[in-house]
Amino acid sequence: MTKKLALLNQLVADLAVANVKFHNLHWNVVGERFKEVHVFAEELYDMLFEQYDEVAERVKMIGEFPPAALSTYLEMTKIEELSDKDYTIKETLNYLLEDIQYLKGLAIEARNVSDEEGDFATVAMLEDIVGTYCKHDWFISQMLK
Ligand SMILES: [Fe+2]
Repeated sequence: MTKKLALLNQLVADLAVANVKFHNLHWNVVGERFKEVHVFAEELYDMLFEQYDEVAERVKMIGEFPPAALSTYLEMTKIEELSDKDYTIKETLNYLLEDIQYLKGLAIEARNVSDEEGDFATVAMLEDIVGTYCKHDWFISQMLK
């Protein structure tokens, strides 16, 4: 497996698990700003779900197989899942930030490896994805101040 494929497939697995994890936080956040953070987590998991499909389809376009089973995602992922319990606003935002920053780093690495190969279509896709993480990294960081 090439380094590019390994990174893209890692991203597919992590996006799948982060999508589930962000639903957990969407459901279980508690506190005075519940509604705002509940809605914000939904925006994020909708975004991750679209990216999950987009990256997997890009893997298909380069003639390979993206991981497609939940059991495989759990073996591969570096996202740490959370138990079902209450999460304060601050805990929730910190978990969201940590995962967005991790995904940003992974997407940047995949973008750079794709660039070395001259795979500009993958580079373009990943640059857009990195842009969304930069924006939400900023949003959450501001909310945490
Ligand atoms: Fe919901």
